[in-house]
Amino acid sequence: MTYARIIGTGSYLPAKVVTNDDLAESMETSDEWIRERTGIHRRHVASDDETTATIGLYAAQNAIEAAGIEVDEIDLILVATTTPDKVFPATATIIQRRLGIAGCGAFDLQAACSGFVYGLDVADRYIRSGGARTAVVIGAETLSRITNWEDRTTAVLFGDGAGAVVLQASEEPGIVAAHIHADGKQEELLHVPQGISQGYDQTRAGEAYIQMNGNAVFRKAVATLDSIARETLAGHGVEKEQLDWFVPHQANLRIITAAAKKLGMPMERVVVTVDEHANTSSASIPLALDIAVRDGRIQRGELLLLEAFGAGFTWGSALLYY
Ligand code: COA
Repeated sequence: MTYARIIGTGSYLPAKVVTNDDLAESMETSDEWIRERTGIHRRHVASDDETTATIGLYAAQNAIEAAGIEVDEIDLILVATTTPDKVFPATATIIQRRLGIAGCGAFDLQAACSGFVYGLDVADRYIRSGGARTAVVIGAETLSRITNWEDRTTAVLFGDGAGAVVLQASEEPGIVAAHIHADGKQEELLHVPQGISQGYDQTRAGEAYIQMNGNAVFRKAVATLDSIARETLAGHGVEKEQLDWFVPHQANLRIITAAAKKLGMPMERVVVTVDEHANTSSASIPLALDIAVRDGRIQRGELLLLEAFGAGFTWGSALLYY
């Protein structure tokens, strides 16, 4: 049987750090409030000359180096992002060019904070069906560009960053399964109201930023993450005790803690990095994964449950042997 197996992980966080205290200088908030409600201590913000492609490239190069492959072995590049560099071409083709390769398929995928799990699902299916042997899946975001820095209800929550994995066909177990879901009925609870095909309307300039009903999103996220965890484990005959690591989307420590509690995972087995980089949307899972791989927590052969929830709403999971 052929599996898609992660053979390398990588990540990148922009050098510029904005602490909670920094934010408190320009808006009515405090380090205490942000830590207590979200678990976030700081976020990284891209410099003027860094874009999603720049930071996505660094994460990909990091993962390619860890995988020990040559770039010309890559036959699929997938970038999950809500903040592409340009309307077109895809950020994936910009990264492809900067990697110095051409010819392989490269495209972007937009599923908000669930984008990386969606990307894993697509790449897994390509690899298992023989459509690709080596794929790079990148989650990269410059959310600072769609953040209203005068809105304390959202500005404190988001950050910039990128993470990536190299997947390769293998006889050794890798991705057991990924599940993706969406329900568009409540799009206004978390969205950027302005969009390209509505035309650029300067009188609505204030709507080109993230808007969110935090309370409603919080409740929905906790309930949905619980149901996807149950579905994934039951669907594959896996008991929660068999899981070595839970690697959730890093949006809010309270959401992560509630999801872990419902899953019965002790927090020592949950990868938490939201304190360091806030919510980086599609980048947050590969960032957390890479940090825990590089610091030695996640070991080869361990069983991981990845879970995401985001705007749309979209949600998904991946069960995999690292
Ligand atoms: N600093 C200080 N006070 C703030 C604040 C900030 N940054 N943001 C909001 N407040 C205030 C509110 O105005 C409100 O004041 P009021 O009681 O005088 O009206 C009070 O704090 C409580 O607001 P509330 O929205 O009820 O807080 P909360 O406990 O729900 O926490 C979130 C707000 C956003 C942290 C929380 O709802 C959340 O994390 N939601 C999920 C967000 C998310 O993860 N989205 C992405 C999913 S992919």
